[in-house]
Parts: sequence; C-alpha cells; structure tokens
Amino acid sequence: MQNSTTIGFIGAGNMAYAIISGLINNGISAEKIKLSDTNESLLSLRKDEFNLEVFTDNIELAAHCDVIVLAVKPQILSIVCHQITESIKPGALIVSIAAGVRVRDINRWLGGNQPIVRTMPNTPALLNQGVTGLFANENVSASQKELAGDILSSVGQSLWVEEEGMLDAVTALSGSGPAYFFLMIESMSNAGVALGLDEKTAQALSIQTALGASMMADASTDSAHELRGKVTSPNGTTQAAIESFQDQDFDLIVAHAMRAAFDRAGELGVELGDSD
Ligand SMILES: NC(=O)c1ccc[n+]([C@@H]2O[C@H](COP(=O)([O-])OP(=O)(O)OC[C@H]3O[C@@H](n4cnc5c(N)ncnc54)[C@H](OP(=O)(O)O)[C@@H]3O)[C@@H](O)[C@H]2O)c1
Repeated sequence: MQNSTTIGFIGAGNMAYAIISGLINNGISAEKIKLSDTNESLLSLRKDEFNLEVFTDNIELAAHCDVIVLAVKPQILSIVCHQITESIKPGALIVSIAAGVRVRDINRWLGGNQPIVRTMPNTPALLNQGVTGLFANENVSASQKELAGDILSSVGQSLWVEEEGMLDAVTALSGSGPAYFFLMIESMSNAGVALGLDEKTAQALSIQTALGASMMADASTDSAHELRGKVTSPNGTTQAAIESFQDQDFDLIVAHAMRAAFDRAGELGVELGDSD
C-alpha cells in the first residue's frame, strides 16, 4: 500500500474499528486514515485510541481521501452516497463493506462512472480472522484493486470474484457461515448435555473441537474429506455418527440452507437498491 494514499472511513462502528486496527497493526500511519460518523462520542473514542483525524461531516471527509470506505448500515448507504457525491476527489476509489448493496446502485447514488469495489466481509473480521469476498467494477484500476485487497486483508483473507452475483454465494457461505458453525456448536453442546455432561463442559468441548478441527483443516494439505476419512476408523464411534448424519442427508440440509441464504441475498440486493 502506497504511503501517500489517504483512506477515509464513513461510519466508525464495529467493522471500521476492526479494519482501522488491522491497518495500523500492519504499519499504516494513522495520519493517512480519516474517519467520519454522526456519533460524536464514538468519534472522540476512536480519535483518542488511534490519534487519527475525525470529521462529523462526511462531505468534508470525502474531499480529503483517495479511498473512501463506506462502513455504515446498508439502509443508510444511499443517503451517505448522495451526500458525498459532489465532494469526492476525481478517480477516488469507493470500497463498500455494506452487506447486500449492489455496485450499480452505489454507482447511481454517486452520480455514475465511479471506481467501486464491493466487499462481503464476515464477523470474525472483528478478531482479525475474517474472510472477505471482493468484486471490482470496470472503473477500478489494477493498483486500486490491489489497494482494496490490502485494506480487507488487514482483517483476514481476501478473495476476488469475477461476477458480482457471486457475492451472493459468498454471503451464503462465509457471510452467514459463522452462524452455521455457532448452530453446530450449540447443537453439539445440547447433545453432550443430553448424554450426561454438564453444560459448561459440553460447551468447552464443542468450542475447542470446532477450533481444533478448523486449525487442522487449515494446516493440512489433505482435503476436509480426506481428514474425515483419517479420523473415521471402520466400525468405530465416528463412523456411527457420520452414518447417522448421512442417513438424514446432511449434505442436502446444508445445500438447502445455503440456497435459502443465496436467494435472500438476491432479494435484499433488490430491496436495498430500491431508493433513488
Ligand atoms: N459487523 C459485521 O460483522 C459485518 C459483517 C459484514 C458486513 N458488515 C457491514 O459493515 C457495515 C458496518 O457494520 P457495523 O457492524 O460496523 O455497523 P455499526 O457498528 O452500526 O457502525 C455504523 C456506524 O455508522 C454510524 N452512522 C449512522 N449514520 C451515519 C451517517 N449518516 N454518516 C456517518 N456515520 C453514520 C453509526 O452511528 P449510530 O450508531 O449512531 O447510528 C455507527 O457508528 C454494515 O453495512 C454491515 O452490513 C458488517
């Protein structure tokens, strides 16, 4: 990332906080980061922690920045875009982290012909363990693409998709995915309690098992399928459990759930882009 690039965040909430922390931990100077929000007490907290320049006026922030990260709730994105249209520097890169809002709507709200990267981060970004899908429109240069990738990589991994529609698939997988694993942890804890464990022990066993299995899958060159094969002895306990999952079509249950999330992401994109 070039040291002369100024990155402005509109919205000083959880996600902006995580990304700014990541950038500063990765050696980006706080002087190069600006922040605006309508909440003055939150801005003051951020200013004290990071020693960066803050604004209560989004228009003023936009005029200072080479990259503008839109980090407000999706429902107010159109208002913010209309606000800053006139003050954006020519050619400035817009990075949206707002879930579901499509590039063509952001572009329309900003007056057209804007370089825009739309991203879909997920909640573990708050612990630097996120994974983000990114899509760039045709106005984004190669160096701006690299820059957007670097910004989101400060809170985890970044992966590009070639078609914007694939961000709905990213939403169905990694965007909503943390909740699927929370559900699995919850179900396994409950089942452990039903088998006689106390709640605290069942929960600790579930969480650590999820963490350990993810770390193994990440560290290993084997696929998840191969790893599963290695821990499933013939006629053993794991085989009994896996067969029970498969008898109830576990793959199909997951596929249906993710299709529902994918379809809903498409609907939300239309709903969120509805305003002028
Ligand atoms: N959190 C996640 O894990 C996650 C994951 C993926 C994507 N996202 C996306 O990231 C975006 C931000 O999420 P978040 O969790 O960081 O939200 P958040 O904590 O609510 O932060 C948004 C901030 O924007 C402020 N704001 C409201 N109106 C504003 C305006 N007109 N101008 C400037 N700032 C304004 C809010 O102030 P008030 O609170 O006073 O309204 C709040 O401080 C959302 O679009 C969300 O879809 C979040």
